[in-house]
Amino acid sequence: MRIAVYPGTFDPVTYGHLDILQRAVVLFDRVIIAVASESNKETLFSLSERQELLQEEIKDINNAEVSSFSGLTVNFARKCGAVALIRGLRAMTDFEYEFQLALMNKKLDPNIDTVFLMTKSDYSFISSSAIKWAASLKGSISEFVPPQVEKALLQKYNKNV
Ligand code: COA
Repeated sequence: MRIAVYPGTFDPVTYGHLDILQRAVVLFDRVIIAVASESNKETLFSLSERQELLQEEIKDINNAEVSSFSGLTVNFARKCGAVALIRGLRAMTDFEYEFQLALMNKKLDPNIDTVFLMTKSDYSFISSSAIKWAASLKGSISEFVPPQVEKALLQKYNKNV
């Protein structure tokens, strides 16, 4: 069984993340979405909220599951028996950071490779931060996040839903 770990902050999950996941589940037998409990970014959603929002979106995908981790991503991946980490690439601007992260992870565990999938062009310009910013200013975000996530964002920003 070929297992992959898809790590991220997912604050919150977007259609961009789900696009990457839908393609990863075709390539691997099992994909574990690993929500980072610690992040160098301040998160809007708690760890359990980020996991619950993801859980709702993946419930129909048989070979995907949501988990969380702290510490090194490669340590978590090794414990899961994963052979790969999945990362989405949106634009050239992602490349330098992702290249550095992938090489660092490879040094930390030479048995785990990073597999990059190109984000669908419709979502190549979005990020969780941009969506949060737009939502906080009452901008429409329904094109970028599933309805449950939109609702959760609007609740966070205290709007009537
Ligand atoms: N479509 C749309 N947006 C996407 C996307 C896609 N396909 N893929 C990523 N993004 C966005 C995210 O929404 C996020 O936006 P934000 O910065 O506005 O929140 C941004 O791209 C990148 O976030 P994410 O994918 O969550 O990655 P990250 O850079 O926050 O890294 C970890 C998260 C968990 C992978 C990383 O911090 C990590 O590995 N931490 C553990 C410690 C470790 O092992 N470090 C490495 C060795 S030192």
